[in-house]
Amino acid sequence: MYICICNAIREKDLRRIACEDGGDAETLYARLGFAPQCRQCLEEAAQIVAEARACQSA
Ligand code: FES
Repeated sequence: MYICICNAIREKDLRRIACEDGGDAETLYARLGFAPQCRQCLEEAAQIVAEARACQSA
Protein backbone atom coordinates (compact mmCIF):
# COMPACT_ATOMS: atom_id res chain seq x y z
CA MET A 1 0.00 0.00 0.00
CA TYR A 2 1.24 3.46 -0.84
CA ILE A 3 1.41 5.91 2.02
CA CYS A 4 2.47 8.80 -0.20
CA ILE A 5 0.84 8.97 -3.60
CA CYS A 6 2.83 11.99 -4.76
CA ASN A 7 6.14 10.17 -4.29
CA ALA A 8 4.95 6.55 -4.59
CA ILE A 9 6.36 5.72 -1.14
CA ARG A 10 5.15 2.37 0.14
CA GLU A 11 4.12 1.88 3.75
CA LYS A 12 6.52 -1.06 4.10
CA ASP A 13 9.46 1.11 2.97
CA LEU A 14 8.54 3.84 5.43
CA ARG A 15 8.27 1.28 8.26
CA ARG A 16 11.65 -0.22 7.35
CA ILE A 17 13.47 3.10 7.31
CA ALA A 18 11.69 4.26 10.49
CA CYS A 19 13.32 1.32 12.28
CA GLU A 20 16.73 2.08 10.78
CA ASP A 21 16.82 5.88 11.11
CA GLY A 22 15.64 8.61 13.42
CA GLY A 23 13.76 11.74 12.51
CA ASP A 24 10.22 12.62 11.55
CA ALA A 25 8.32 11.49 8.48
CA GLU A 26 9.63 14.35 6.37
CA THR A 27 13.20 13.48 7.33
CA LEU A 28 12.61 9.84 6.42
CA TYR A 29 11.13 10.86 3.07
CA ALA A 30 14.35 12.78 2.42
CA ARG A 31 16.43 9.69 3.28
CA LEU A 32 14.41 7.81 0.66
CA GLY A 33 15.23 10.57 -1.83
CA PHE A 34 11.87 12.34 -1.79
CA ALA A 35 10.28 15.52 -0.50
CA PRO A 36 6.65 16.01 0.47
CA GLN A 37 4.57 17.73 -2.17
CA CYS A 38 0.88 18.02 -1.26
CA ARG A 39 1.69 17.05 2.38
CA GLN A 40 -1.65 15.28 2.86
CA CYS A 41 0.10 12.05 3.81
CA LEU A 42 2.31 13.42 6.58
CA GLU A 43 -0.09 12.91 9.49
CA GLU A 44 -0.67 9.26 8.60
CA ALA A 45 3.03 8.83 7.86
CA ALA A 46 3.86 10.13 11.34
CA GLN A 47 1.51 7.53 12.84
CA ILE A 48 3.16 4.76 10.85
CA VAL A 49 6.61 5.91 11.96
CA ALA A 50 5.49 5.91 15.61
CA GLU A 51 3.95 2.43 15.24
CA ALA A 52 7.07 1.04 13.60
CA ARG A 53 9.31 2.38 16.35
CA ALA A 54 6.98 1.16 19.11
CA CYS A 55 7.04 -2.37 17.67
CA GLN A 56 10.80 -2.22 17.34
CA SER A 57 11.32 -1.29 20.99
CA ALA A 58 8.79 -3.85 22.29
S1 FES B 1 0.63 12.19 -0.81
FE1 FES B 1 2.54 12.49 0.15
S2 FES B 1 3.15 14.47 -0.45
FE2 FES B 1 1.27 14.14 -1.48
